[in-house]
Amino acid sequence: MTKRNIVPTGEEIAFGEHEIIVSKTDTKGRILYANDVFCKVAEMQTNDVIGQPHSIIRHPDMPRAVFKLLWDKIAAGEEVFAYVKNMSFTGKYYWVFAHVTPSFDHAGRISGYHSNRRKPRPVALEAIKPIYKALLDEEKRYKNRTEGLEASYKLLEDTLAHAGQTYSEFVWGAGGAHV
Ligand SMILES: Cc1cc2nc3c(=O)[nH]c(=O)nc-3n(C[C@H](O)[C@H](O)[C@H](O)COP(=O)(O)O)c2cc1C
Repeated sequence: MTKRNIVPTGEEIAFGEHEIIVSKTDTKGRILYANDVFCKVAEMQTNDVIGQPHSIIRHPDMPRAVFKLLWDKIAAGEEVFAYVKNMSFTGKYYWVFAHVTPSFDHAGRISGYHSNRRKPRPVALEAIKPIYKALLDEEKRYKNRTEGLEASYKLLEDTLAHAGQTYSEFVWGAGGAHV
């Protein structure tokens, strides 16, 4: 299954305040487990999800700098909290507040990753949306993807430095993380 030709509709797909979207991956980020809520909101069957990269639910509005930050943290063995705008199989969007953690084997090596996602507070999203838009705009100013990512990541670092916060502090300070 591929999402290559899915066009965002601008319509939101709802999920409940008490629902948790869960997935587990291998070290490359390929999905090994997705719960029923993941599949329901992504509008996909379990069989279509397992073995796929998480980018099957990637929304084009998401700046790549945020995924770089996410991967840098978890590959270094740290947990990360992040706001992510995702896209369902029919092009609908859903914002999540994700907690992504590495799992370790008995030798202390990273054996995979785990993500729990809750519905974010609207007030937190209002703080996040203009920042993500600025990051995406910065990324798009460059024809070269690597240069675009570097510039967008620098803008993210500068924005956080200006606020005197880490991304994690910023996330938790943005009016409360989830409902
Ligand atoms: C445990 C875990 C959960 C992830 N969850 C999401 C997610 O919900 N949405 C998403 O777009 N990317 C998620 N990612 C990041 C993707 O692996 C990928 O970096 C991102 O979709 C950008 O894809 P691209 O580099 O192909 O554009 C997750 C990664 C891991 C390891």
